[in-house]
Amino acid sequence: MDLTRRPRRLRQDGIRDLVRETGLSATDLVAPVFVDATAEERVEIPSMPGHERVPVDGIVDRVEAVLETGVESVILFGVPKAKDEDGSRAWAEDGVIQEATRRVSRQTDAYLITDVCLCEYTDHGHCGVLEPGAPEDVTLTVDNDPTLDQIARTAVSHAEAGADMVAPSGMMDGMVGAIRGALDEAGFEQTPIMSYAAKYESAFYGPFRDAADGAPSFGDRRHYQMDPGNGEEALREVALDVEQGADVLMVKPALPYLDVVREVNQNFDYPVAAYNVSGEYAMLHAAAENGWLDLEATAMESLVSIKRAGADLILTYFAETVAEQL
Ligand code: PBG
Repeated sequence: MDLTRRPRRLRQDGIRDLVRETGLSATDLVAPVFVDATAEERVEIPSMPGHERVPVDGIVDRVEAVLETGVESVILFGVPKAKDEDGSRAWAEDGVIQEATRRVSRQTDAYLITDVCLCEYTDHGHCGVLEPGAPEDVTLTVDNDPTLDQIARTAVSHAEAGADMVAPSGMMDGMVGAIRGALDEAGFEQTPIMSYAAKYESAFYGPFRDAADGAPSFGDRRHYQMDPGNGEEALREVALDVEQGADVLMVKPALPYLDVVREVNQNFDYPVAAYNVSGEYAMLHAAAENGWLDLEATAMESLVSIKRAGADLILTYFAETVAEQL
């Protein structure tokens, strides 16, 4: 037995930190925040312990609390006061995101990202305009091309309100190009786009849909979000978003798709974001509540692993609690 090579030498205290390949810092993290135009007070989200929907009046305090942990960026999701077929509250000047964004951008130092999608704003819960014939024919869902104008309009309204970056999450073909064109035309050529470039049709979004009240009222999202079995297709999706002007490329969810995170990191010379989604958060909490897992340790290990796979930044509901441990 030749034991010249002993990897354990570098695992001794004192050297471990020096040879660690992957570091995690609070500035790698983006904290999702929910703002609710229908709420007068904060409302707990049962499937996401520790997270609440906050009224517009409370958004500045909420974001300040995030900044105190060392996390410098938030992504805003909105629950509008009313929903309609087109999702018109998504681009309303006095919409929930627009109001909240104005306050956060004027009153805090947060780097503010806004999620650009229509599913929280349409009465049918899909991420765009319905195809003719839906919902009677439940195999039909979102009509791609008419949706692009509405997404672009929404993104411009967020930039006008003061968003630092927009993040389209609807998985419509051409959405990044449509947004880039509209932002440039409106004078926002310096506003970056973080595209949800490889977003899977995942069952791990369940708790989020409770939180943001955005579940589809019929059918599902399989006609626009990606099939979980497809890895090569993710690279095609990402390539299209790069061609259309995406600045940051997101893979979502994170933990079940670390192979995709790695591939995107290796194949594209752009920052990679990974979204550690609501279900990934909820399952650790549920196990911890049963005494089966250590919440702090598993959350930290999850985020380090997502970075090790190749993510430059991580959107995570653990942002604040992990930042406080760092
Ligand atoms: C909106 C959107 C969703 C998430 C982020 N933006 C829900 C969905 O696509 O159904 C999920 C986030 C999470 O689960 O944490 N399109």
